[in-house]
Amino acid sequence: MGRIAVTILLILSPLLSTDINIYEQNCVKCHENMPVSLDKFFFNYLLKYSSERRVKQALRNYLKHPRRKASLATEELVSRYGLMPKTDLSDEDLRKAIDTYWDKYKVFGKIE
Ligand code: HEC
Repeated sequence: MGRIAVTILLILSPLLSTDINIYEQNCVKCHENMPVSLDKFFFNYLLKYSSERRVKQALRNYLKHPRRKASLATEELVSRYGLMPKTDLSDEDLRKAIDTYWDKYKVFGKIE
């Protein structure tokens, strides 16, 4: 009985996906009150790191270990808001949040 319930859950879980919510609830919630929007940051990362793999890797590194040296934000912004707090998302949720972030802003789906 328990096993059947688990199997059903496993089958359904991709359909009940909360991936977008992780991004909305975590990233957007904190960022929405800031003057620099998430899309601005995204394009800075895109310009600097260019490929999907490198952008995602840089974002993951930054979110796990925010450091002034690695930051692409302006001096002004950081002195006003401080560095972003180290993420408390699990690796899996962080990956989903970054995937959502990427899918939302990647330019026309043409950059590889
Ligand atoms: C508790 C608040 C908070 C949360 C949660 C948060 N951020 Fe931030 N974020 C900030 C602040 C403040 C800055 C500006 C300072 C800085 O760059 O570290 C920032 C900066 C950034 C930057 C620019 C980093 C740089 O190079 O300086 C990116 C990209 C970013 N956030 C993406 C995200 C994503 C994606 C998530 C969700 C996984 C997220 N943030 C969650 C507060 C937050």
